[in-house]
Amino acid sequence: MMEIMPLLPVDEESIGAAKRTSVAGIYDILIDGSNGSAAEQKAAAEVQTGMPGVNIAVKENISFTRRCVKYMLQRGVTQFVDIGSGFLTTNSIHALDSAMKVVYVDKDPSVVEKGIELLGTIETATIICADIRQPKDVLENLGLTRLIDFSQPVGILMMYVACFLKDPEIASVMSSITSTICDDSFVAMTHDTLDGHNGTDEKEKAAKALEVYANTSTPLYFRNHKEVEEIFGGLQIVDPGVVFPHEWHTELDPKAPEATKWLYCGLAKKSPSPLPARNPQIYANPMKLLTAFNQAALSGTSVFVILWYFITFLVQSFMEVTNVSLPEPAASDD
Ligand SMILES: C[S@@+](CC[C@H](N)C(=O)[O-])C[C@H]1O[C@@H](n2cnc3c(N)ncnc32)[C@H](O)[C@@H]1O
Repeated sequence: MMEIMPLLPVDEESIGAAKRTSVAGIYDILIDGSNGSAAEQKAAAEVQTGMPGVNIAVKENISFTRRCVKYMLQRGVTQFVDIGSGFLTTNSIHALDSAMKVVYVDKDPSVVEKGIELLGTIETATIICADIRQPKDVLENLGLTRLIDFSQPVGILMMYVACFLKDPEIASVMSSITSTICDDSFVAMTHDTLDGHNGTDEKEKAAKALEVYANTSTPLYFRNHKEVEEIFGGLQIVDPGVVFPHEWHTELDPKAPEATKWLYCGLAKKSPSPLPARNPQIYANPMKLLTAFNQAALSGTSVFVILWYFITFLVQSFMEVTNVSLPEPAASDD
């Protein structure tokens, strides 16, 4: 995980700017939204300088979100929780299918305020203000449980949000989510990475982008492929695994944008635990399997011998009871 300590703003102006910049606002500018402040516009420009093509990466992110919601809808999932939703638009996921129930979650009050306004009287979608670092505040929130039934499969979206959490925070969030959702539920994620931008120059530039986020209340972290895969924990990552967005089921969006390699994406399913084998070690080791077979054969022989003695004993007893004696051999005339 690449980390930069938050920089201390050096003058009054930057102190004010830092207070006014939020991750939600910077992201909104990158997706050509209209919710960002002047300070966030400046910050977004700095992020773009540090991460050239990031304005396309955010579109890849949105395309992946729509594709994996379609993927889950095709598998019968109709309820979704979008954690770290960012500013909603009329194209947010609740508009994809009228059968969907959607709860958006964001810790930024201005995102929630505008979201409530945008959703208006829609009864199948809502937005709540909560911080996923306190997972119970999200998963047990009455505004959420009014729409979401965790005894039924659910799709949890964590798009471009785990990259704002530290390792222990992610572990706690994922543990709470996986123990709350039922089998056949999904967790989808996108996450910033430097894996596609490994050159020294590129890394130095990207560090400048991290400085921008370090000056907000939500610092950003890059993670590599293994680290992103590990976030999914015991969930079963669906094919093609953790990949760059242009490698993930593009048949679900023929207009999926080009690849910038700033993001990894993945979708994982909570599957029923497989029944434990009675003696899994035996099946894993051919020698142990052979020994077990020999033992079985030997014990089969022993059963046969015992059975033979028992039958002989029964026949002898029967002959004694009925006084049947074998005829004496005839005396030889010789
Ligand atoms: C980069 S935006 C992503 C927006 C949206 N998920 C998308 O992919 O289009 C990240 C959002 O996550 C929110 N966020 C960051 N940390 C959060 C947390 N701990 N709990 C809830 N929301 C969080 C921010 O306020 C911001 O709106």
